[in-house]
Amino acid sequence: MNIGILTAGGDSPGLNAAIRAIGKSAIRSYDMQVIGFLDGFRGLMQNRIVRLDPDKLSGILTVGGTILGTSRDKPHKMDVGGTEMDMTSLMIENCAQHQLDVLVCLGGGGTQKNALRLHNHGFPVVTLPKTIDNDVWGTDATFGFDTALSIATEAIDRVHSTAHSHHRIMLVEVMGHNAGWLALGAGLAGGADVILIPEFPYDVNVIADAISVRRGAGSSFSIVAISEGARPMDVHLQMEELRELAARSEGDAKKDAKAALAALDASLEGNTQRLAGQLQELTGLEARVTILGHVQRGGIPSAVDRLLATRLGTAAVDFIATGERGVMVATRGGQTVTVPLEEVAGKRQTVPHDHRWVQSATTLGVSFGQ
Ligand code: F6P
Repeated sequence: MNIGILTAGGDSPGLNAAIRAIGKSAIRSYDMQVIGFLDGFRGLMQNRIVRLDPDKLSGILTVGGTILGTSRDKPHKMDVGGTEMDMTSLMIENCAQHQLDVLVCLGGGGTQKNALRLHNHGFPVVTLPKTIDNDVWGTDATFGFDTALSIATEAIDRVHSTAHSHHRIMLVEVMGHNAGWLALGAGLAGGADVILIPEFPYDVNVIADAISVRRGAGSSFSIVAISEGARPMDVHLQMEELRELAARSEGDAKKDAKAALAALDASLEGNTQRLAGQLQELTGLEARVTILGHVQRGGIPSAVDRLLATRLGTAAVDFIATGERGVMVATRGGQTVTVPLEEVAGKRQTVPHDHRWVQSATTLGVSFGQ
């Protein structure tokens, strides 16, 4: 049997551990041939491959990023010489040319959708869930999240002493455009006083009040953990309206609603800095911003991410050997399971309002700005 692997979407710690697990178990347990496509779906379209022989799979367990490279390309919307084209068929032809039996796609929510597209067009796929955002539907965890969570938590820990010394409000912006797992987890683990995530649109006056109450009680500094996608309530309501409008419109009206939504989303650029200015004005305390950015995605994967990536990678090969196709290999309740891609694609695992981390934070007096 021959299998191909590609990594797509934003990179995340643990990808190489997964590639290694898939490759080694495919070769050792099943005598399969394994190739990798470079740079995600772009490399699949361009038929750029590397043979994943044992020597290529050695020494990569602890390496960050992905040895295969990645890109955010979509099979049906490829930029070909400046023109957007559907290249799904060519990608399938390339898989067939290498006599692949299955293509394993490692990625986040977008990759699950793209993989399903290939599958529905006739090429069998199996996927694994990775992203530092932890927002892939159908799995209890994605690899990459644990490492990013530790990095973000350490950053909040470090900001504490300087916030305390200068009596300042320190805002630490972490990744997470649509889901607040990282800000919530790092905020709770790092003892943030305010946690702002996309799932809880905020009111700046409520945040300022919470900070002022702390100050009145003798704490002259405050730590705010904020997701890059956190937004004020008024912007959130406008976005919801545009989303509904786009959903019930057709043709140009749909396009216009989507464009307005994208413009509103883009207007959130620099939001954390703006919020810092507002809080400074409302509380009279100095505010400073730290944006962690891609630091959260780089470097050595944690032991937890290596274990998850290794477990899912080896299990994926066992599932492939037994004939499973069109599924994502996931972890649920401590078990390794397969979930049909039709169920996964197009959904996002956001933070439920009654999640146990939210409950604990609320009990401890953390403000969500609501
Ligand atoms: O892949 C997830 C993610 O890290 C998000 O948290 C973040 O919004 C985005 O990727 C950043 O993407 P890029 O690296 O393409 O700027």
